[in-house]
Amino acid sequence: MIDDGFRLFPEQASTHAAGVDHLYFALLGLSVFFTLLITALILYFSIKYRKGNTRVDRTARSTHDLRLEIAWMVIPFVISMSIFGWGATLYFNGYRSPQNAMEVRVVAKQWMWKIQHPNGRREINELHVPLGQPVKLVMISEDVIHSFYVPAFRVKRDVLPGSYSTCWFEATRTGRFHLFCAEYCGTNHSQMVGVVVVEEPTAYADWLSGTAANETPVAAGQRLFEDLKCVTCHRPEGITGRCPPLEGLYGADVKLANGAVVTADDNYLRESILRPNAKVVAGYEPLMPGFDGQVDEEQMIQLITYLKSLAKP
Ligand code: CUA
Repeated sequence: MIDDGFRLFPEQASTHAAGVDHLYFALLGLSVFFTLLITALILYFSIKYRKGNTRVDRTARSTHDLRLEIAWMVIPFVISMSIFGWGATLYFNGYRSPQNAMEVRVVAKQWMWKIQHPNGRREINELHVPLGQPVKLVMISEDVIHSFYVPAFRVKRDVLPGSYSTCWFEATRTGRFHLFCAEYCGTNHSQMVGVVVVEEPTAYADWLSGTAANETPVAAGQRLFEDLKCVTCHRPEGITGRCPPLEGLYGADVKLANGAVVTADDNYLRESILRPNAKVVAGYEPLMPGFDGQVDEEQMIQLITYLKSLAKP
């Protein structure tokens, strides 16, 4: 079971954790320092200059002091900008995943976490990951907004309907860690919990191969691509010329009919499958029918994974 012994802070189990905690304690320290300083000065001055105390000098009242004005603008500015820079650095580290990250797909729904690994292995309300390997989560919701939260990793990211959101982490300790939904999502929000299981890479590989009979997401996507008749226009050879070629599309820049240039990422592909006319590629007619309501989120992930596999040279 998860070790839930009393502690003020969750244990640090990812490469993000120490950095986030340092910032947190620095902010806390700064707040405590200024609170104590200001409280002490208020007490000191209200006693010293109390009514009836005739032994203090009240003559030299100053109305302006340029040095003081500059000091109380420059010092808070420097402090707040330092905090901003520090926080922004952590933010970007947390959201820009490394190139070698293993990609795991997460579909949230009321009230469970459905997870699929690169080889097709699925699990619900559990996430197995290898120790010391960056893991990127690509997440979407089937209904309302949820939020993927693993306190021990200091990772929290909203999971939205209709758009992919990502986050990444690298676990630094083996063990079992809480996974919570951190966005109120209806009656059983409090039950939408799970466990992240961090294992040695060999143990993870064993677990992953446990049920070998699964179809990989790429194979499932290819089968869907044929079942939905995408293949009749988007031929692998691209001979018809009626539809944009899909080989090498993923991650590339696409020029649109309205002159804009967009990157063919997960969200672009998703929109183009559901609502093809939203972004028509330059030089092509808006011929494609939309697939809104015909593919669910898990099938969408399979289709995109298949398209992504075509990108590899
Ligand atoms: Cu899902 Cu709260």
